[in-house]
Amino acid sequence: MAILPILKYPDPRLRQISKPVTAFDEELAALALDLRETMINAPGSGLAAPQVDQPLRIIVVDDTGEDEAYGEKVLTLINPKIVAAEGEQIYKEGCLSVVELQSDVRRSAEVTVEAQDVSGQKFVVTASGRKAVILQHEIDHLDGVLFLDRISRLKKEMYRKKLLKTQKMAKNT
Ligand code: NI
Repeated sequence: MAILPILKYPDPRLRQISKPVTAFDEELAALALDLRETMINAPGSGLAAPQVDQPLRIIVVDDTGEDEAYGEKVLTLINPKIVAAEGEQIYKEGCLSVVELQSDVRRSAEVTVEAQDVSGQKFVVTASGRKAVILQHEIDHLDGVLFLDRISRLKKEMYRKKLLKTQKMAKNT
């Protein structure tokens, strides 16, 4: 297992459309474990393979229950697809690829996701609240979409400017 470097916005590789997984082999199982370890190490609520420069449709999602320790339960979803969505919620999101920004995002309140496990077995997850948010956020990554694309243009522009300024300052020191 390994902790992989996470790409940071505005890296263009975050915009790639990830390819469906077709080989359910040892390599896939190893990548899924690396994603899990990388997410836990960060620590984060979820991680998508394109964030570690592997443009494949794989996500991991923190599934810690109330009385459990973080990292105990992580869902791995291969080729996840939202097949039903209902209602609306606003939740404050952040992203391991978007440093120092948290912002309210409007998404579906409940989603049903079809996916496969690392052996190719199909399963279905229905989630609401935080877990529904994470699922939608991570699946967005597979299509090159960041939560930044779902906030107001003004907020996004302010963030871009702040980021450029920080990068300039870092160069000067
Ligand atoms: Ni993210």
